[in-house]
Amino acid sequence: MPALTLTIDGRLASCRAGETLLQVIRGNGIDLPTLCYLEGLTARGGCRLCMVEVAGREKPQAACVTPAEEGIAVTTDSERLRRYRRQIVELLLAERNHICSVCVVNGQCELQSLAARFGIDHVRYPYLSPRLPLDASHQRFGMDPGRCVLCARCVRACDEVEGAHTLDLQGRGVRSRIVIDLNEPWGRSDTCTNCGKCVQSCPTGALFEKWTARGEKERAPELIPRIVAWRETHER
Ligand code: FES
Repeated sequence: MPALTLTIDGRLASCRAGETLLQVIRGNGIDLPTLCYLEGLTARGGCRLCMVEVAGREKPQAACVTPAEEGIAVTTDSERLRRYRRQIVELLLAERNHICSVCVVNGQCELQSLAARFGIDHVRYPYLSPRLPLDASHQRFGMDPGRCVLCARCVRACDEVEGAHTLDLQGRGVRSRIVIDLNEPWGRSDTCTNCGKCVQSCPTGALFEKWTARGEKERAPELIPRIVAWRETHER
């Protein structure tokens, strides 16, 4: 593979042709934020958190799906990029029901960590709080679409790693959600192998293991009634 040379934040970097900007940036020790990207899965370019500026290009580029090119100058941090990233996380928080105090992954959530990283202590947009049904029908796993950021990491893990093709994205906009077997209760799935790869790939508490969440036995079952009760009063 031919080698390429480019600059990242003003410093010379080299990589192989075919590598993405995200690979080069992370390979040079820069912790670029991502959400829909998960190493080992096909990059999707959906969340736009990994946006970087490339000199001469008007719009920021999603680093996870942009190939490195010879001679380009990449900026990973600027006032504009910080503003965009903060706005994306705020919109994700406003769109669904990310109430950390009643979430099984509180303290282990990538969205929560990004909010803390960007100093988000309030959201400037109205909360939409759509009423989306929680699926607790599976023996081991639960699905709470109110926590979902639609990154589709679970869909790709199920398709590309497990080969089960159980999960899919359904609908558009605020009511879009992950469905099992074209919209069956998870507990009745014919294709799910119970491997848990979807749960492990989820960045939030949208998919969770009932009995081992945060290593605290029975934490998830204990929380499910609280989540449902919260929804009764807050969701639309
Ligand atoms: Fe690149 Fe989501 S991580 S667009």
